[in-house]
Amino acid sequence: MAQPSQDPLKPIVALAKRRGFIYPGSEIYGGFANTYSFGPYGVELKKNIKDLWWKTFVHQRRDMVGLDGPILLHPKVWLASGHLDNFSDAMIDCKACKARFRCDHLIEESLNRSADGLTLQQMTETILEHKVKCPKCGAQDFTEARYFNLMFTTHMSKTGQEGDAAYLRPETAQAIFIDFKNIIDTMRVKIPFGVAQIGKAFRNEITPGNFIFRVIEFEQMEIEYFIHESTWEKTFEDWLNTMHSWCKLIGLSENHVHEKEHPKELLSHYSKRTVDLVYDFPFGTSELYGLAYRTNFDLSRHAEFSGHSLEYTDPETREKFVPHVIEPTFGVERTILALLCEAYDEEQLENGEMRTVLHFEPRIAPVKAAVFPLMKKEILANKARTVFDDLQRIWNCEYDESGAIGKRYRRHDELGTPFCITIDFDTLENDTVTLRDRDSMKQERVPIQKLIEILSTKLS
Ligand code: GAP
Repeated sequence: MAQPSQDPLKPIVALAKRRGFIYPGSEIYGGFANTYSFGPYGVELKKNIKDLWWKTFVHQRRDMVGLDGPILLHPKVWLASGHLDNFSDAMIDCKACKARFRCDHLIEESLNRSADGLTLQQMTETILEHKVKCPKCGAQDFTEARYFNLMFTTHMSKTGQEGDAAYLRPETAQAIFIDFKNIIDTMRVKIPFGVAQIGKAFRNEITPGNFIFRVIEFEQMEIEYFIHESTWEKTFEDWLNTMHSWCKLIGLSENHVHEKEHPKELLSHYSKRTVDLVYDFPFGTSELYGLAYRTNFDLSRHAEFSGHSLEYTDPETREKFVPHVIEPTFGVERTILALLCEAYDEEQLENGEMRTVLHFEPRIAPVKAAVFPLMKKEILANKARTVFDDLQRIWNCEYDESGAIGKRYRRHDELGTPFCITIDFDTLENDTVTLRDRDSMKQERVPIQKLIEILSTKLS
């Protein structure tokens, strides 16, 4: 974990930019708040996480199928789902500098107390009574608190009429609910079963978000798991355990992941029980993933608003019912942030030098192995290139011949590359290479012939 400093994320943000993981969005135009680009290594890391998630939750289970629904859904979907009426945050504006803040964040950060359960009026009064200052300009002159919907609105140009509003989806889940009938009609699925989807979601988040923790465009990996109501408690517990196993699989320490039960009065409009998996980020313990019991709220509402029955008939008992849903949801950006925080380390070496290293779990590391000729000599380079070509066919690897060998090791430590392979003059004599382990920094001599077998074991 990063050492505490004034901005505990600073070293991680710096490394993410320096090493091509994450760049600020629209940087050459002065930036665009709460947006980021994933650079060449960031995109590899992201892809590895999403591929592993899909393999774990779709390919390796018999009770799951996948879906890739559209970002733009019929506007009535958001009326039925309750997002048009309920998906909003209480905001307040500073009259002096026009900055806008989430009321709960302003109260929590300025008064060090929770704003949970406060009405709009109570939030306005609390901010007024305690003479809360604008964190931007210091004025004590706020508007009344108001609700702002978090959905991004766009317009369809089909009819050219004003008011043809469409919404960028704020969660991927709804695409699954509205295709429920298609899935039971076309696939041989039997309850209990789940539908998994990975895709973009958009939220007009006002408050700055601790790097990629809170962004306006992000990816969700979501599962809607359809069940009979009578089994919800057991299914909920099973998924909670499964979510913990996922955290372990990607390399998050069990000590840094905790459960946080949502109090009844703060549950989302669709949920009867929600437990967050929270992670000890350097800026505080905050939501990583969520698990919700959405009852049959969504399917019932879509049946009501669309006029199509979304009932399921049990093939054995012939019982007809609207299935209930357990929803495990995983944010991709928060996964990446947690992994960077977990993996980041600054270590003092025996010679007194410092090294920065990302101890990524090999499964998710963007580059699995780097191949170096000891020095820039044609005879070594030729051999190194053949080793690299063989490995690159199987894993994402890198070939690097420039600079001192120590510097090349440091660069790959910062990228989290688990293994470095060096081709030296002994290689030309006996066809062996040195294999250096990122974490222990130990080197062993291994035959080229056995390299793929050894790496396969170490990387799996
Ligand atoms: N379908 C349920 C749902 O959307 P949520 O708790 O609002 O629930 C699910 O979001 C997950 O999406 C969160 O646990 C988090 O990982 C991620 N997430 C939510 N808002 C985010 C944001 N503004 N930036 C990055 N990730 C976000």
